[in-house]
Amino acid sequence: MTGDILKYLREKECVSGEVLAQKLGISRVAVWKQIQKLKDMEYKITSDQNLGYCLVSRPDLLLPQEIQRGLSTNYIGKEIFYFPELKSSNRMAKEKALHRAEGIGEGTLIIAERQSGGKGRLGRKWFSPAGGIWLSIILYPQLPPSYIPRITLVTAVAVVKAIKMCTQIKSQIKWPNDILINEKKVCGILTEMSAELDIINWVVVGIGINANIDHQKFPEDIQAKTVSLKEVSGKEILRVRFAQIFLQEFEKYYESLKRREFSSILKEWKLYFHTLGRKIRVDMGERIVTGEAVNINENGALILKKEDGELIKIISGTILK
Ligand code: BTN
Repeated sequence: MTGDILKYLREKECVSGEVLAQKLGISRVAVWKQIQKLKDMEYKITSDQNLGYCLVSRPDLLLPQEIQRGLSTNYIGKEIFYFPELKSSNRMAKEKALHRAEGIGEGTLIIAERQSGGKGRLGRKWFSPAGGIWLSIILYPQLPPSYIPRITLVTAVAVVKAIKMCTQIKSQIKWPNDILINEKKVCGILTEMSAELDIINWVVVGIGINANIDHQKFPEDIQAKTVSLKEVSGKEILRVRFAQIFLQEFEKYYESLKRREFSSILKEWKLYFHTLGRKIRVDMGERIVTGEAVNINENGALILKKEDGELIKIISGTILK
C-alpha cells in the first residue's frame, strides 16, 4: 500500500488525501496512516491544506521499492527482504534458502543497512556500518558444484562493471573475491553453498561494498588497506542506483554462466586481474605456496608458477602478499 501511495506522489509530487483515498479505495484516515509509515521510512512528506501531501525527498536507504523501481532484471531482486539492521545478510539468506519450497525463489535478496555480525571469508568479521551496501543473493543454479568458484568470479566482474558505470573508477579483482581500488579493498564477496555429490541445493552470494563510509570510521587494523567509493570519488554515491546496476550486471553474467558460457566471462575477468604476473604467497590452508600468478583456468582456479617452474592449480586459498 505504501508503494501505491509513493507511485501517485512521484507522478504528481502533491496529491490530496481525498484523491489518494479514492484511487486506493481506502479511507482518508487509512491514507494518513500509510503516510506516517512512509515518514517512518525517512521519506520527507509535507501536508498542505491546499496542495495535499507532497513528496519532498526520498531517503538514502536501500528500500525494496526504491531498488525495484526501474530495475530491469528478470528475477534478481524481484523479491527483497530489507532490514535496517541485521546480524548478517548471508546468515539470513542461508536460513531463507532452506525454504525454497515455500516460495523463496532464485534471485531473492536480503539487504541490511548495517550488520552487527557481518561475516567475511575464513570466519573473519566484516565491518558493516550504515552507508555501505551489504546484500546477499539466493541462487539455485542447476550446475555441478564445481561451478561454485565461477559464481564468485561472475560476481566480481559484475561489481567491477558497476563501479565503473557509477563512478568511472577502474577497480581490479584480487583472486578470488576481493575488489581493489589503488591496492585497497573496496568490496568483498562471500559465497556459501549447500551441495551434494553432483547437485547444488543453494548458493548464497554475499557482497559487501564500502560505498559511503568515511575513512576514519574503519577500524584501525584495516584502515590502511581499505577504501570506500565515496573517498575515491570524492562524493557520496547513489547507493540505490549502484545496487540496481550491480544487480542488472550480475543477472547478465549469471545467465551466461548458466548457459555454461564461461570463457567470455573469464576473458573479461582477466582484464581486471590484479594479481597477474605478480609474485605472491598463497595460504592454501594446509600449506603456504610461493610463486608467480600466471593465469586463471576454466574452473576459476588460480595457476601459480613455482620457483622451480612447476605449475600448480589452486581452487581455494588466500593471497597473503
Ligand atoms: C570477505 O572479503 O572476506 C568477504 C566479505 C563479505 C561481506 C558481505 S556483506 C553482505 C554479506 N553478509 C555477510 O555477513 N557477509 C557478506
